Amino acid sequence: MSGKNLGIIILAAGEGTRMKSALPKVLHALAGKPMLGHVIDTAKALTPKKIVVITGHGRGLVEGYIKANHGGTQTAVQDPQNGTGHAVMMAKDTYGGFGGDILILLGDCPLVRAETLSKILSAKGDNPLALVGMETGDPGKYGRLVMAEDGLEKIVEFAEATEAEKNITLCNSGVMIAGAKDLFGVLDKLSNDNTKGEYYLTDVIALLREDGHKIPVIRENQKEFQGVNTKSELANVEKALQKRLRLAALEAGVTLIDPMSVHFSHDTKLGADVTVWPHVVFGEGVNVEEGATIHSFSHLEHCIVRKGASVGPYARLRPGADIGEGAKIGNFVEVKKSKIGKGAKASHLSYIGDANVGAGANIGAGVI
Ligand code: UD1
Ligand code: MG
Repeated sequence: MSGKNLGIIILAAGEGTRMKSALPKVLHALAGKPMLGHVIDTAKALTPKKIVVITGHGRGLVEGYIKANHGGTQTAVQDPQNGTGHAVMMAKDTYGGFGGDILILLGDCPLVRAETLSKILSAKGDNPLALVGMETGDPGKYGRLVMAEDGLEKIVEFAEATEAEKNITLCNSGVMIAGAKDLFGVLDKLSNDNTKGEYYLTDVIALLREDGHKIPVIRENQKEFQGVNTKSELANVEKALQKRLRLAALEAGVTLIDPMSVHFSHDTKLGADVTVWPHVVFGEGVNVEEGATIHSFSHLEHCIVRKGASVGPYARLRPGADIGEGAKIGNFVEVKKSKIGKGAKASHLSYIGDANVGAGANIGAGVI
């Protein structure tokens, strides 16, 4: 399902206390893009009727990011932040009268793929709600799924779990799909009578069960649904994302001599037969055309390296560097906002800024 029968709500109002950071959690970058951006892009790929992001903590920054990068994505404010159930309630007016299904995504769960979500959408069937569960080796602080014979019985949050419940390894990914009317109807019945004094979204399961509904659980791989609550989890998710980006490059015909040592940006473009030597960092906005070589210890951002050019080792390409076809930028050369013509060379120790270097030119060592 997609299009006019699907709405998406992304929860992004929480403070993210465990990150111990001044930056709102959902704006922490992964491969150079805020984690919320990854979730919004995945949501967009499902072409829903609308996407509503719940904002609260650090609202100015989060809304500023959305406005600048995701036009068409709506926001609703949650202030104060009284829990995930309370957060979803904030989208009720925006979805007033909507009769389709609503997919709920967490802004701190950035690895989820659109293809996986499409499967989930169809698995809900006629039930009021379906939930994505994940089998975990180490369940940590995830909500625990208590199963009945015919589906999910309830979700117990870590803070409320008994010792026996803490041993359950089947956990809540945080992703669910629910009929809009069923969802907003049951949210009104949530209580905040718990350890944290919050309205837990996860309590809707027990409430729907009391009304006699069956709640199917779709079991998915935990790797894709890993939540980010701490800097250590952020580092783990970055690692997973880098692995994905490297694999995609290799599959597209790029030669990575030592894949693990190359750092990608979410938007890095490398043509077929590009060779990347170990220890190269791609910042945002890099386009390297076919057959070019990037040697070790080079750092590139917002630049283009044209066909067959050679960069590094130890080169720095800053915004606006345009390295022409077959050109050579050698060791300890920094280029900013400059066009280096076809076949031109700057082989050693130079700074080239705001310049236009003609085709075939040779810049000698030490030139500024
Ligand atoms: C939540 C789930 C837990 C699940 C886990 C998966 C609840 C109560 N718990 O726990 O069962 O296993 O996600 O990763 O739902 N947020 C708001 N407003 C709030 C609180 C949170 O918008 O008042 C947002 C946060 O910004 C975040 C998301 O909701 O993006 C999840 O909140 P978080 O505090 O990280 O919940 P977890 O403890 O991870
Ligand atoms: Mg979380």
